[in-house]
Order: sequence, then C-alpha cells, then structure tokens
Amino acid sequence: MTQTIAIIGSSWGDEGKGKLVDFVSKTADIAVRFQGGNNAGHTVVVNNKRYKFHLLPSAVIQNKIIVIANGVVIDPAVLFSELEYIRTEGFNPKLIVSSTAHIIFPFHNYIDELEEEHKELHAAGTTKRGIGPCYSDKASRYGIRVFDLIHPEIFRSKWDKLVEVRKRFVESMGGEWNFDIKAIFQQYVEYGKRLEPFVRDTAYYLNEALDQGKRIVFEGAQGSLLCIDHGMYPYGTSSTTWAGGISAGTGISPKRIDKIVGIIKAYTSRVGGGPLPTELHDETGNLIREQGNEYGTTTGRPRRIGWIDLVNLKYACMLNRYDALSISLLDVLGGIKKLKLCVKYIRNGEELDTWPIQSEIIQECNPKYIEMPGWKTLPEEQWSKTAQQGYHALPKEMRDYIETIETYLKVPISFISIGPNRNDSIVRNPIW
Ligand code: IMP
Repeated sequence: MTQTIAIIGSSWGDEGKGKLVDFVSKTADIAVRFQGGNNAGHTVVVNNKRYKFHLLPSAVIQNKIIVIANGVVIDPAVLFSELEYIRTEGFNPKLIVSSTAHIIFPFHNYIDELEEEHKELHAAGTTKRGIGPCYSDKASRYGIRVFDLIHPEIFRSKWDKLVEVRKRFVESMGGEWNFDIKAIFQQYVEYGKRLEPFVRDTAYYLNEALDQGKRIVFEGAQGSLLCIDHGMYPYGTSSTTWAGGISAGTGISPKRIDKIVGIIKAYTSRVGGGPLPTELHDETGNLIREQGNEYGTTTGRPRRIGWIDLVNLKYACMLNRYDALSISLLDVLGGIKKLKLCVKYIRNGEELDTWPIQSEIIQECNPKYIEMPGWKTLPEEQWSKTAQQGYHALPKEMRDYIETIETYLKVPISFISIGPNRNDSIVRNPIW
C-alpha cells in the first residue's frame, strides 16, 4: 500500500510542483515541507484564482494538516503573514511546526545580500531571503531553533553569541550593523508565544501518523539541480532539494518513502547564476517567458529560458529514482513550429550523455539537439476542455513529444499539465 508520496522538482525549481501537490494531497491526510524556506514560490490556481505560498505547504488549500518539518528554515514574519493571508481567503490552516526547525532573523537577509555582492562572478543570484546564512548558522551550531524561541531564557542564553559573530561578520564584509538587537529579540519572543500552539516534535508526530495508517505527501521546494550537494555548486541553494533530503528533513526513515514523483517542465527555466547550455537568448525564449509568465514568484525576476535538457533530467532521474514523472506547461510551447530537445552535450568535440555536474565543465558544453514538430497554440478554455477529454485528445505532436521524453528518461509520464487550473491535467496512471 502506498502511504507516502514525494513530489520533487527535477531541475531548477518552478516546475509546477504546487499544482501536483494540490492534486495529490486531495486524497492525503498530511502534507510536509522538509527543506528550504520562504525562498520557494508555489502557485496553485483554483477557478482562475491564484494562490501563492512561500513557506506554508500548498496543501493548505485542501484543508489538510500541514507540517513544517525540522529541515525547513522559518522566517516567522513570513509564516504569520501567510497564515493571515490564507485565513482571509477563508481557509482554516491546521499547522504543525517542528521544534527543531531553525529561525531566520533580519540580519540573515542582509548577510545574504552582502555575500552575494562579495561573491561577484560566483553569486548564485539568491532570493535574498536569508536562507543560506540561516543554514550556515545551523551548521556552525550558532543557530536558534523554534524550541529556543518558545523558551525565552534559552533563546536569551544563545542570542548574544549569535549576534556577536554575525555583527563581526557584517563589519568584516564592509557592511553596516544597524540592527536594533533588543527590539528584534523582543519581537522574536513575541513570535515564539504565537508559535507555541503549533509546535510539536514532528519526527514523532509523523512516524506515529504513519503507524496509524495516515497518508503523507512530501512537498519538495526548489529543484534537484539546486541541491547543495548534488546540484550545480555554487549556483544552487543551501539545502538538500532532491528526495534524499526527506529523511534528514523530517525524521522519517528512507524505508518509509513509498513513491517519488518528479516534476519536469516542457522546457527549461531558471533564475540565478550558472551556465545553462540550452538557454535561449532569442525571440523564442522571450515568447516562452511571456506565454509561461516566467517571472519569479518570490522575487519577480524574469526567469532564464531554454529548451528541455534531457541530459540533466536524466541525472535527476538517476538521483531520485522516480516512480513517475509529471510534465507541466506543455500549453506554453503552443505555436512554436519546431521544438528542440537536448539529448547530449558536446565538449571539445566529444559527446557526453551524462550531466557533468561541475559548473566549470558545463560552461564548456554545447547542446546536441533533436528536433520535433510543435503544436498549435490554443486559448486556455480550449486546453481545459482537451484535458477533460483525456490523453488521446492531445495533439499528436504533443503526444510524440511526451513519449520521446518518456523513452529517453525511461520513467513513465503519469501526469500531464496543459493549463494553470486545477482541472487542466491528465492523469494517465493512478497516483496512490
Ligand atoms: P537561495 O535559495 O535564496 O539561497 O538562492 C539560491 C539559488 O536558488 C538561486 O539561484 C535562486 O534563484 C535559486 N532558488 C531558490 N529558491 C528557488 C525557487 O523556489 N525556485 C527557483 N529557484 C530558486
């Protein structure tokens, strides 16, 4: 019996995970975020209304229990503003927060900016939400956790040391330390009071829920290629973004992860630095960006666009050993006569069919493409109707495109998304 499903981005995030999480969590009991923080931007569209989340699991709009587990870094100001937002939208969030998740403070955001400037060429183009600096404090064990926040005397005993090292760091980077530390401390004690009713030891909570037969969805944030270990370092994020991060980020054994579903996009997009071999710097790239509204949910930055890259997707498939794939945004490619799919890289005249991982090598690679005919563009309502009719109603060119990807990646594409709305999807195989 399938009790747990993980939804994992295969590339650089923004693959459309929110929509599949929403669909899968309809028949689940609990949805869990296990890494990252409010650098994420998950969008779900219901009846043409767009809901955006950065920190809360998107399953909140399915009225499921939502868990922010230990692997996540929490900006309490963002957490409370998202709770407020979702309540004003008429939902009643059933939130549980891990006692061991780490806390983002305002100076983390500032340090994020300073570090980005300092790195120059090697800047990742972060979201400047303080994610990396907070994880740095976690690793150096200066970090403050949710448990500390709800016990002001413990928080107090750790606070001065954290402030001291971060102040010195800011000054050493030529920054200005203009933080009212007393006021921040007081404000976070208040946040602690507000957080307390939600706090649990989530490793116990989640394992007990599984013992009782509950179904859990793990909601990945960012994408596999942004992973701190297996992504394109240093142009990624600071957490373990592929399925390998679930156990560390929740306290659930890898043996309890039943199914892993990878989300791929019909093309490539990314924000931030680093080489992108299939990147388009032409009208087609602009067209995809506009048709796909490819602007960051968190920062509003225009996303870099490229053709689908089967070389790096194959790498993501190897890492995650997906049971199934979901492909999104196929409708966005409508109207492009000839589509290109990168099937190999070429470096110094040699063909590579494995992703070189190192950014310095990827920088030297050019894509080798196969070409396929595209499909017509259709109005949104027309795509919705097509989705209701099922897979065989899709244009033949689109089915060929899907099946070519499927054959190359050797993973079944079980979910197909051809529009932003909840119902604009085709399910080819049952999920649970
Ligand atoms: P950070 O996670 O803010 O530290 O940013 C590190 C890198 O990950 C940058 O290239 C960001 O643009 C990228 N990134 C972080 N979160 C997301 C996301 O949710 N979608 C896409 N890219 C992201």
